[in-house]
Amino acid sequence: MAEKILVTSALPYANGPVHIGHAVEYVQTDIYVRFLRSCGKDVVYFCADDTHGTPIELSAAKQGLKPEEFVARFHDEHQRDFHDLDIRFDYFHSTNSPENRHYAELIYARLKDKGDIERRDIEQAYCEKDQRFLPDRFIKGTCPNCKAPNQYGDSCEVCGKAYSSTDLLDPQCSLCGTSPVRKSSAHLFFKLSRHADFLQSVLRKPGFIHPGLAAQLQGFFGGSGLADWDISRDGPYFGFAIPGETNKFFYVWLDAPIGYIATTEKWAKETGKAKSALDYWDAGSDARIIHFIGKDIVYFHALFWPAVLNVAGFKVPTELKVHGHLTVNGEKMSKRRGTMVPVRDYLDQLDPSYLRYFYAANLGAGVEDLDLSLKDFRERVNGELVNNVCNLANRALSLLAGPLEKRLAPGRAEGPGRALVESALARVPEVRAAFDKLEYRNAIRAITDIASAANAFVQTQAPWAAVRKPETAEGARADLSDVADVVYLLGALLAPVTPRLSEKLFAQLGAPALTFQALEGAKYPLLDRSRPTGTPEPLLPRLEPERVNAIIKTPEGAPQAADAKPAGGKEKKKVESDKKPAAAPQPASAGATQASAGAGAGEAPGEIEYADFAKVVLKAGRVVVAEKVKDADKLLKLTVDLGEPTGPRTIVSGIAEAYAPEALTGRRVVVVANLKPRKLRGIESRGMLLTAGTGGKDLSLLDPGDMPPGSEVK
Ligand code: 2FM
Ligand code: ZN
Repeated sequence: MAEKILVTSALPYANGPVHIGHAVEYVQTDIYVRFLRSCGKDVVYFCADDTHGTPIELSAAKQGLKPEEFVARFHDEHQRDFHDLDIRFDYFHSTNSPENRHYAELIYARLKDKGDIERRDIEQAYCEKDQRFLPDRFIKGTCPNCKAPNQYGDSCEVCGKAYSSTDLLDPQCSLCGTSPVRKSSAHLFFKLSRHADFLQSVLRKPGFIHPGLAAQLQGFFGGSGLADWDISRDGPYFGFAIPGETNKFFYVWLDAPIGYIATTEKWAKETGKAKSALDYWDAGSDARIIHFIGKDIVYFHALFWPAVLNVAGFKVPTELKVHGHLTVNGEKMSKRRGTMVPVRDYLDQLDPSYLRYFYAANLGAGVEDLDLSLKDFRERVNGELVNNVCNLANRALSLLAGPLEKRLAPGRAEGPGRALVESALARVPEVRAAFDKLEYRNAIRAITDIASAANAFVQTQAPWAAVRKPETAEGARADLSDVADVVYLLGALLAPVTPRLSEKLFAQLGAPALTFQALEGAKYPLLDRSRPTGTPEPLLPRLEPERVNAIIKTPEGAPQAADAKPAGGKEKKKVESDKKPAAAPQPASAGATQASAGAGAGEAPGEIEYADFAKVVLKAGRVVVAEKVKDADKLLKLTVDLGEPTGPRTIVSGIAEAYAPEALTGRRVVVVANLKPRKLRGIESRGMLLTAGTGGKDLSLLDPGDMPPGSEVK
């Protein structure tokens, strides 16, 4: 029997919309599932809303709703968003379901039977006014390390130090502002510490997790060893009551992954396609279970989850596919800047195919972050998907449907058209392997190569002229039929990424959907040449800057999100209008953005002569690489190419809170090039990057557009 594969994406919390950062994972997973299915695999894809926990309980209360009512709203909204993004789950369930309660209770009972649950008294912060224990995120106070006010109970956002909420100075309940007291209560712990050997063997299993992440996880085994895991919370709490206990509930992270099993159960019952979840999840099942997750929740999926499943007699996941996070225009997503774009705001403007394509074109198998620069998004999608693929299809199909009356020519014995199709077919194994390894960007590269070769062929053969003369029309028909074969192949190769586009291509070719399975051993000609082609229709319009920019709705009073500047002359204008701050650089506002250069921090800059301004040499540069500066939370050390024969310069800049170093590679910047070199943290900095904003996270690098490194900025 064919191998059964079960794939999941992480369960979104039912307390907010799905945003374009979440979408990276759902698109990545959905592409994989569609690919496997196209290869003929027996695959199911599940997800659910993650509904429990304190934040959801409190958000519901704030809106005067019962938590059940509150999460139900998001259930419908999430399903619509996923559907419209062309994400196709086999089932989308909820962790607040009878199936989940059943499995959570069953698993807990088994853990208890095996002696893996221990009761311990622990002391925690308790608000006497609200009569509740306070999770770390609900306590605020002064950081014990850097004394920054208004920090959460687990770590400081200013200095980055992690601590316990008991260490916080002047702790306050973030709900009522009173000072919490310490109070003891009994908690239930899962004895994770007993399973270190088992977990080490799981981490060593080939294919379970990226070896780099397995190495990182070793950190949890060192020192005093794996810590036991507190799986209970005292009421009030939105979750499942723990059987046999009073006012105690399962911690949300216990029942959330059990939601994967519960969703399988619900799907089995509703569709009859399996007897129960155990067809997949029983310890003896030979199904493959693959979890797609973000790098922030590896700990739960690689340590707690396999140990819990193993003790409870369930199947341990086969693979964890871990991805990095999304940045927008090179910066962390931020609600304040409007860059945490809800998927719905994107869909209100644009077809999902563009975003799916862009994510695929940038995704590899590693955990590095992915940047959605709106400018790159537009340029890449227009250049590759619209101009290359869609234009090819449209040219060939229009000529075939118009002057050539929808009739294809039979395949040819030889010639450049046949060679074109055959060399495209020869790349299928490469594309297949790339999808299989989650190296989607390599798959996209091969696919666009195929389309480029076909465009070059069309350009050489110039069929638009040939179709009009009787003596050359049949030759043109044969050429265009070969191009139609390539378009058919592109439809199959792109189907996991842009399923809507592929459906259109198949319909316009008048051909049935082509799969990876059918492509195994496929030979020239690909299309049944005896069938008429369909009617050409527009495929995907070009992305216009206005539509792309409109996906970011900057909240009132917040700084404008950067980038997505119109091309050409307008772009230059933008640089010019941004020039003012350059005339009087204000390094204080940009944190330690290469220090003062004589402009007195805090002094209001009076009027200056043009001659003064002219002393400042501004140049366009390109970041070669950026890295963090040890023990300096605000500083990055950048290597910047200014087109100088002496090679790139080192510049230390205070932009670390606004930009992740890996997001800066290749980024264009404006540099004050004639500042005296200055040492920052022992590193000689030769220049200053220009930024706009108030500093800290609120900084945006100025962009000189496409001007090559070394271009003067005036
Ligand atoms: O981090 C999150 O968004 C969680 N809601 C993911 C849960 S995944 C699974 F374990 F349920
Ligand atoms: Zn309180």
